[in-house]
Amino acid sequence: MRTLPAAVVVLLALSNAVELFGAESGGECEKKIPIDSRPHSVSIVEFGAVGDGKTLNTLAFQNAIFYLKSFADKGGAQLYVPQGRWLTGSFNLTSHLTLFLEKGAVIIASQDPSDWDIVDPLPSYGRGVDVPGKRYRSLINGYMLHDVVITGDNGTVDGQGSAWWDLYASGSLNYSRPHLVEFISCNYTVVSNITFLNSPSYSIHPVYSSNVLVRNLSIYAPPESRYTVGIVPDSSDAVCIEDCSIGVGFDAISLKSGWDEYGISYGRSTTNVHVRRVGLQATFGSCLAFGSEMSGGISDVLVEHVHISDSNKGLDFRTARGRGGYITEITASDIHMENVNTAFSATGQCDTHPDDKYDPDALPSVSSITLRNITGTNISFAGNLTGISGAPFTGICLSDISLSIASKYSNSSTFWVCSYVSGISESVFPEPCPELESGLNSYASSTSCFSHRSSTTQPVDDT
Ligand SMILES: *[C@@H]1O[C@H](CO)[C@@H](O)[C@H](O)[C@H]1NC(C)=O
Ligand SMILES: *[C@@H]1O[C@H](CO)[C@@H](O)[C@H](O)[C@H]1NC(C)=O
Ligand SMILES: *[C@@H]1O[C@H](CO)[C@@H](O)[C@H](O)[C@H]1NC(C)=O
Ligand SMILES: *[C@@H]1O[C@H](CO)[C@@H](O)[C@H](O)[C@H]1NC(C)=O
Ligand SMILES: *[C@@H]1O[C@H](CO)[C@@H](O)[C@H](O)[C@H]1NC(C)=O
Ligand SMILES: *[C@@H]1O[C@H](CO)[C@@H](O)[C@H](O)[C@H]1NC(C)=O
Ligand SMILES: *[C@@H]1O[C@H](CO)[C@@H](O)[C@H](O)[C@H]1NC(C)=O
Ligand SMILES: *[C@@H]1O[C@H](CO)[C@@H](O)[C@H](O)[C@H]1NC(C)=O
Ligand SMILES: *[C@@H]1O[C@H](CO)[C@@H](O)[C@H](O)[C@H]1NC(C)=O
Ligand SMILES: *[C@@H]1O[C@H](CO)[C@@H](O)[C@H](O)[C@H]1NC(C)=O
Repeated sequence: MRTLPAAVVVLLALSNAVELFGAESGGECEKKIPIDSRPHSVSIVEFGAVGDGKTLNTLAFQNAIFYLKSFADKGGAQLYVPQGRWLTGSFNLTSHLTLFLEKGAVIIASQDPSDWDIVDPLPSYGRGVDVPGKRYRSLINGYMLHDVVITGDNGTVDGQGSAWWDLYASGSLNYSRPHLVEFISCNYTVVSNITFLNSPSYSIHPVYSSNVLVRNLSIYAPPESRYTVGIVPDSSDAVCIEDCSIGVGFDAISLKSGWDEYGISYGRSTTNVHVRRVGLQATFGSCLAFGSEMSGGISDVLVEHVHISDSNKGLDFRTARGRGGYITEITASDIHMENVNTAFSATGQCDTHPDDKYDPDALPSVSSITLRNITGTNISFAGNLTGISGAPFTGICLSDISLSIASKYSNSSTFWVCSYVSGISESVFPEPCPELESGLNSYASSTSCFSHRSSTTQPVDDT
């Protein structure tokens, strides 16, 4: 091995220091993922694609990507999609590629299941999430790629999900539904400046990936699309989600890391995630959900400057016996909510399991969750925090929270429901349950409260 000159060693040490400082003050979004312009560009039209909304263009996309593979070592290339309606089945991307959707360009997903390959389930799930067994490959896929960008001048990807929502609702899916974009084991991926509509299931699904940037997206699926989810960082690290507007049927942003024994044995966490400046709406689910599939662990998540509206739940921490794993070192601050049923939820009762082989003694750990500077109007219930007997949720720290409860519910004496949780609260209205005792005590001075990532020590359990 070549020895590094001393000056380089000093520079490396400095850049590590800067990176650490950056992470503490601002999180992953402060790191800049370099976005290079590509020296080569081809249009999908050159591969015979027809933008009439009727012609199936799957082969044109596959052939274009195959051709662009040869540019990987020549600075990469751009695949340009001009104005038009481009119907297609699923296709793969390649490394050092930019997929660019021009203004007025709409990639439309075929509604015919036979245009979608069937693939094995993810190893950390052991089966499809909708139905046991295999799943459909996503519309746009990356597998073991490096440096991929999906962007445009407000072009659109329309999943035409209604056919899939109906199959799901009527219980007639043969395989689990596809997503719009899935990156598996990729490094340096960017999705920005475009609109995603009507996903069959998730819109953006990075799994086993590192260095994921999701910026300036609009993601929309109508309320009746009950189990549609916006962005799902899954067993992935170094993820930034910023400046996005998301409105879906189920969860807007959902952090996951595998399901029960499959997630435990795969053992890859979701960590170092930063979400900021996003507007979220989740009709039947939650705006920011953690789990319930969290068996590989979820840690070091910073959420800030969020606007939440017209949703079932605001922030939601979900797990169950059998999951194992952990949710820890989560900070969410500077959030406004309006027209939300339950502002804060934490539950250890998400008892759906991939099969009956899970270990009921695999208890999850939920700890060190700080929620700060949050306001709400027209909220029905402030919080339902229900941990697990034998595995209580600890270090739940609430401060500077003010929720105005909808008049219909404001005579209720149970704004908060708590069991098997502990933590502290400061300046929280309405007054929280006694489990989150107020005021400064030895607990409050514990470094795990009201600070982000300052300590890895677990809070002292005061029960
Ligand atoms: C797409 O990538 C997968 C690997 O993830 C591969 O099995 C499949 O053959 C590829 N499809 C095409 C059309 O290249
Ligand atoms: C966001 O994307 C749109 C196109 O979809 C573009 O017009 C706008 O300038 C972008 N905004 C930022 C802040 O990048
Ligand atoms: C982007 O496109 C969507 C849907 O086509 C539209 O609603 C939105 O206003 C557009 N945004 C910009 C910045 O042009
Ligand atoms: C599911 O499988 C059944 C039996 O093979 C078939 O009749 C049906 O068309 C399939 N459904 C879909 C949506 O592919
Ligand atoms: C991602 O790329 C960076 C820089 O090339 C490298 O240091 C890192 O090991 C890669 N990570 C993975 C998971 O491949
Ligand atoms: C997105 O749009 C903005 C504004 O036009 C531009 O500065 C940026 O480079 C675009 N691309 C990406 C990848 O963010
Ligand atoms: C609290 O959050 C709001 C956004 O909801 C923000 O405007 C304000 O600056 C924050 N206050 C503090 C003290 O950080
Ligand atoms: C209050 O929020 C509920 C949803 O939780 C909504 O149905 C209702 O219309 C909202 N009321 C007002 C006055 O906005
Ligand atoms: C609170 O959550 C628990 C577990 O998720 C649930 O069983 C209970 O019904 C909820 N309570 C209220 C009042 O919503
Ligand atoms: C709430 O209480 C006030 C006064 O105690 C009463 O006037 C009002 O009718 C009650 N509202 C509901 C919805 O019960």
